[in-house]
Amino acid sequence: MTENPPLDARRLLDETFVAQVEQHDVLGSTNDRAKEIALTDGTVRPFLVVAERQTAGRGRGGNAWWTAPGSVAMSLLVGPNHLPDDPAHGPLVALATGLAVVRTVANRVPEHVVGIHWPNDVIVDGRKLSGILVEGLGPRGQVIGIGLNVNNSAAEAPDELRARAVSLRDLTGRTHDRTGLVIEVLRELARLLEELARDPDSIGRRAHAVCLQKGQTLAVQQGDQTLAGRCVGIAADGALVLDTPEGRRALVTGILRA
Ligand code: BTN
Repeated sequence: MTENPPLDARRLLDETFVAQVEQHDVLGSTNDRAKEIALTDGTVRPFLVVAERQTAGRGRGGNAWWTAPGSVAMSLLVGPNHLPDDPAHGPLVALATGLAVVRTVANRVPEHVVGIHWPNDVIVDGRKLSGILVEGLGPRGQVIGIGLNVNNSAAEAPDELRARAVSLRDLTGRTHDRTGLVIEVLRELARLLEELARDPDSIGRRAHAVCLQKGQTLAVQQGDQTLAGRCVGIAADGALVLDTPEGRRALVTGILRA
């Protein structure tokens, strides 16, 4: 048996809330493809795009995303049925997605510390396991992009990432059923999006509980300003709360600086 069989699209359709799946061997970016699909009238949602490799995977703040064979790169186009078009929910959608990944991986690595780094990175023992990029398309829905290091290894990552990345295989010493993992992430995500629609504050509270930056000194860039302070955690609306020399500040957007 090959170590990395392709994702099983039939199971993804049968066992999750996804209505259609498009599967690629190589793609520029699954988020870009999902945005293209969103422009086609009559597209059913949730629509999932998956790729074994990306040649132009994108991260937040214009960063590139490394997609090695064995990892998971996927983008879910969600419509207003599952995710109302409410800009105030933007940070919470990204956090809900991070929580879905945390819940899925935590029981596979019980002896490790799994949590979230605001705005939505999934971190295990200080290294990045998963990155999330949510892009809003107004009335056409939202694209939720998830990159997850599963059966690849940080040892194969570009030099500048190697010490900061980690995969499930690195953590457990074995390969994982990627289809089963994606199914679990999508099911958790469906639950958390329902919860977001019912009780948005609960997502912020859950994210605060697993935020690993509490107590750390952080610097966040907003335009040409950088705000530094001690992290208090994540507020109910998804903002990062910092105690700065000028007092307590809640930041809804910004790029975290090292
Ligand atoms: C980040 O950590 O800055 C976010 C990374 C998001 C990467 C995923 S991989 C699938 C989807 N397609 C992309 O081009 N980006 C997202």
